[in-house]
Amino acid sequence: MEIDRLMFRDGLMEGERILVTGGGTGLGKVMTEAFLKLGAEVHICGRRQGKLDETAQQLMDAHGGTVIGHACDIRDADAIKAMVDAIWERGPLTGVVNNAAGNFVSRTEDLSVNGFNAISDIVFRGTFYVTLEVGKRLIAEKRKASFLSILTTWVWNGSAFVVPSAMSKAGINAMTQSLAVEWGRYGLRFNAIAPGLFPTKGMSARLSPGGRGGNSNDEMNPMGRHGEMHELANLATFLMGPGAEWVNGQTIAIDGAGYQATGGTFWGTLHGLGDEEWSAMRDMIKGTNAQ
Ligand code: HXC
Repeated sequence: MEIDRLMFRDGLMEGERILVTGGGTGLGKVMTEAFLKLGAEVHICGRRQGKLDETAQQLMDAHGGTVIGHACDIRDADAIKAMVDAIWERGPLTGVVNNAAGNFVSRTEDLSVNGFNAISDIVFRGTFYVTLEVGKRLIAEKRKASFLSILTTWVWNGSAFVVPSAMSKAGINAMTQSLAVEWGRYGLRFNAIAPGLFPTKGMSARLSPGGRGGNSNDEMNPMGRHGEMHELANLATFLMGPGAEWVNGQTIAIDGAGYQATGGTFWGTLHGLGDEEWSAMRDMIKGTNAQ
């Protein structure tokens, strides 16, 4: 990210303590960097401690401050509890960014139950487990906090070829709206960002293997381009930072109006593919899983 394109003053996030799930890579790392640069203590979780430590060290070398990595697969509710216990030993959280996700492009008829669960267990269940574990503590301790979930524009129209993700993220959109009302009275607020295409290594490998699929979105997008990382970081900072406390229950698209132009789906071009092409794409994607 071009860090000098952040819109906010230094020190804005001082005193904030934020957990970013999936914070070691991709969009999670970008948001972690922004919060850190602006003064927050950031906790990041993911499956690989080595990757988390590498990211934490790199960001602290660049900006100072504190980033702490926790190896935690959010499909495992017990592991989440242990992580939140460890975080609370240093002090309570003031915010959570539900960013961790899993996804791969596939014909729905090719999915096994395990394939569906691999995605829905992360996105649908895991996001709820994290929210529940942190939310219960905040309510018991009467503390205010901001929750932000990273969704996609598919939450409104669904999307072909990524059905488990579309179903799961739509569920988290409903969680955002529901808990905004139920837990708003505790000072807990819930918002979401629906990004359009922000290319990352993991996203390209699983959603556009061999360059097929989502890349066409650049030409289809009204602004003729994909998103830039500092744009996402600015919106996330606005929603997580002090001064936006009355923003609650909202899902905000950041996609150059791609949703209005294309209905939010990126994979219309895949309808023409045959069995061999799908098989080749599946092999390419599986070669990148858990990277
Ligand atoms: C069909 C597949 C498959 C594929 C895996 N499976 N890949 N089926 N096509 N390409 C099936 C397997 O065959 C298996 O079912 C089951 O899924 C579990 O596979 P594992 O490899 O054991 O899963 P696991 O190691 O848990 O990997 C999780 C993952 C993987 C979700 C499948 O993609 C991953 O680790 N992703 C990391 C995070 C990520 O995806 N980030 C990008 C998110 S982008 P069987 O029946 O064989 O046992 C995003 C939104 C993008 O979310 C928005 C863009 C606008």
